[in-house]
Amino acid sequence: MNQRPSILIARAVFPDVVDKLQQHFEVETTPAGVVWSPAELVQRLQGKAGVLTTGGERIDAALLAACPQLKIVANLAVGYNNFDLPAMTAAGVLGTNAPDVLTETTADFGFALLMATARRVTESERFLRAGQWKEWSLDLFAGAEVHGSTLGILGMGRIGQAIARRAAHGFGMPVIYHNRSKLSPEREAACKATYVDKAELLQRADHLLLVLPYSAASHHAIGAAELAQMKPTATLINIARGGIVDDAALAAALRERRIAAAGLDVFEGEPSVHPDLLTVPNVVLTPHIASATLATRSAMAHLAADNLIGFLVEGRPVTPLNPVVLAG
Ligand code: GLV
Repeated sequence: MNQRPSILIARAVFPDVVDKLQQHFEVETTPAGVVWSPAELVQRLQGKAGVLTTGGERIDAALLAACPQLKIVANLAVGYNNFDLPAMTAAGVLGTNAPDVLTETTADFGFALLMATARRVTESERFLRAGQWKEWSLDLFAGAEVHGSTLGILGMGRIGQAIARRAAHGFGMPVIYHNRSKLSPEREAACKATYVDKAELLQRADHLLLVLPYSAASHHAIGAAELAQMKPTATLINIARGGIVDDAALAAALRERRIAAAGLDVFEGEPSVHPDLLTVPNVVLTPHIASATLATRSAMAHLAADNLIGFLVEGRPVTPLNPVVLAG
């Protein structure tokens, strides 16, 4: 008789991750390109002890009530705002995420998006591809300076600090930040960052980078009122989560040049993008790829798999979010 637990991989992952999981579990996979609706997900989860999710699968009280055999949800993402963690804890279901392995790669991308936005890389490429380049001119796609300008960071966890180190040590940028809690003096010194209140951050930053987790408290942390406090020459970069920025308010501010430019990797209601953002020229748009190198996405998927194996086989998950469940 087969005693192996059954699990679902809710979004396609690399074959070696499937192989690893098949050594321990009966594995149901999801074909590439398929995203289950909430009802389909519940159906697929029947009889499953574990599931490997991405940030796109919502795990809430209704799903948990409909899937009583579920014991662990392993998110292939560091962010876990798709989890109702209190509901999971109440149901005795462990949640895990995929921190650390993506920190430096995501910080690299924050910088890539900052530089592409400030220096108008994609806007100028569209112009060139459209055959509009007729002559060199002094102000052609003149953008904003990056080196030496002031970088503001909202949210100063591991990724924020990795970006601050790049900015301070590589680009000679004064770094200011705002966060729920102030860093220790040692950490502040390591990334040469100075704590300021949110109003000062908005007013002083030449480039404002968002790296905070999404929650009810951070919903529309950047809306019309906050955009109005920023410099008209400033750029805004969001690599955190959709919903932290009010995308409609941002599109209006960009169109009216109340800020200079934005770089967005995440969107409210993604993969849909607010139609107004698609029509303004001064925004760089990327499809939630900040952690997307093959090496890092592979490390994230293996960490999610290791959490499933660690918990269901050995009773020791690697990165538990609600370890209180383990004591129960
Ligand atoms: C990606 O957005 C993540 O949270 O890992």
